[in-house]
Order: sequence, then C-alpha cells, then structure tokens
Amino acid sequence: MDVPRIVILTGAGISAESGVPTFRGPDGLWEGHRIEDVATPEAFARDPVLVQRFYDARRARLAQVEPNPAHRALGQLDAAWPGELLIVTQNVDDLHERGGARRLVHMHGELRSAWCLACGARHRWDGPLSGDPACPACGARGRMRPDVVWFGEMPYHMDRIYAALARSDLFVAIGTSGHVYPAAGFVEEARAAGAHCLELNLEPSLVSGRFHETRTGPAGTLVPAFVAELLERFRLAQAS
Ligand code: OAD
Repeated sequence: MDVPRIVILTGAGISAESGVPTFRGPDGLWEGHRIEDVATPEAFARDPVLVQRFYDARRARLAQVEPNPAHRALGQLDAAWPGELLIVTQNVDDLHERGGARRLVHMHGELRSAWCLACGARHRWDGPLSGDPACPACGARGRMRPDVVWFGEMPYHMDRIYAALARSDLFVAIGTSGHVYPAAGFVEEARAAGAHCLELNLEPSLVSGRFHETRTGPAGTLVPAFVAELLERFRLAQAS
C-alpha cells in the first residue's frame, strides 16, 4: 500500500488553548493594535520602537506558554508517520517544535529568530531586540529586526510548500481563519492534486466551502482525535 502524503497547515487557532492570542479577535485588534501598525515594513520604518516592543513582548511570553494536546498530537504523528509529511505553520511561536514536530516549516517566520538587515545573517534570539543590540555576525547596531514575515513581504519556503501540496493525498487545515493568502489558497492547490481536504477549526473558516469535510471544535480535542483515527486507519489498512 502506498503511504498517503500529508500536508498540514496550522494557524493561530492551534495555539489558542496554550494562551497565545489569535490575530482576529472580536474587536478586530491584535492585542490592542491594528495589524497595519505593527505587522508591516512601513510600520517598522515609521515606528521601530513600537514594533520592536510589540514583538519583544510576544517573544518574552513564549517562556510562559506550553504546547497543548493539539501540538503534541502532531508531534506524535510526525514521529509515527512512515510517509511524506509536511507541517506548515503560519505561527511565529515555537509550540510545534516543543510539541515534537520535526518536519515543520514556519512560512511567516519565527519570533525566536532575529534577522540583521546590515549583513543578512539570522540568529536564534530569545531576548529583546529593543535597545539596538549588536549583530553577533557583523557587529552592526540597530539593524536587527524580528525574523517574521510582515504584510506585503514574501512568505518563506513557498517552493517546498507548493511542491508538497502538488503531490499531497491529504490536506488538513487547523485553526486558521482563511483571511490571509497565500495560505488560504493552499486548499485549492491540494484539491487540484486530488487530495482529500479536511478543516479542523472552532468555526467554519472563510474558505470552509472548499474543503471536502469540516469538523468544528477546539483544536485541543479535534486534533488528537484526528491523529488517533488516522494512525488507526493506516494500521488497519496495512494489516489487511
Ligand atoms: P486568525 O486569528 O485569523 O484565525 C484563527 C482561527 O482559529 C479562527 O478561524 C478561529 O475561529 C480559530 N480558533 C480559535 N480558537 C481555536 C481553537 N481553540 N481551536 C481551533 N480553532 C480555533 O489566525 P490565522 O488564520 O493564523 O500573518 O492568521 C493568519 C495570518 O494572519 C497570521 O499568520 C498572521 C496574521 O496577520 C502575518 O503576520 C503575516
């Protein structure tokens, strides 16, 4: 039996039960800020102090949050699945890694990475970027920015992601609202490849109608159940 090839897309909803706020709350604000004021290159050029402080606070909060059962279930799937698997996250937290995921790409970058605009080097970064720390590679001060993808910038790893979607048999989107492209369009790529498309979300997303199946509920419940079901189905198929 050919082992199904899987692509999993995750968004802010998978980290909600860990205590990381999602982007589009009922007030339309992201932790009190308009997205355009903190998540665009223009915002950084206009008010770098505000933007650095905003991301410093989010980076600091990572030390206080833990992966939840949804992250851990995907870590177990990664360890157990004998075929191709790619977990694509839009999240900039590190909860997937801490939940055991290895075949993982961060398409919108990572809070725990700093990018030096002077020399282009990227560094693992756990502390603040406010206060103009020196780049460990070139020594330049005041040139490091959060290594996250802002609106208007190109997401990372797109060639690898599209290649995986083009040969996928199963596509699963978890905890993402379908507001932001290109991620919201991945379901179309997967459909074109003939993949079964499953959405796991608290409520139907904006692109829910493009999935073959939508299950609504909290990720911390839905994802472990889905992973157990997938591994059991695979075990039975192999046994038969
Ligand atoms: P959103 O905040 O837009 O959407 C989160 C989704 O998760 C919503 O559909 C919620 O209903 C759902 N949700 C909330 N709690 C949940 C739970 N416990 N279990 C399951 N689902 C839950 O976040 P994203 O779709 O990830 O981009 O946002 C996409 C991108 O927009 C982000 O990566 C970021 C943002 O602006 C950049 O910064 C470039």
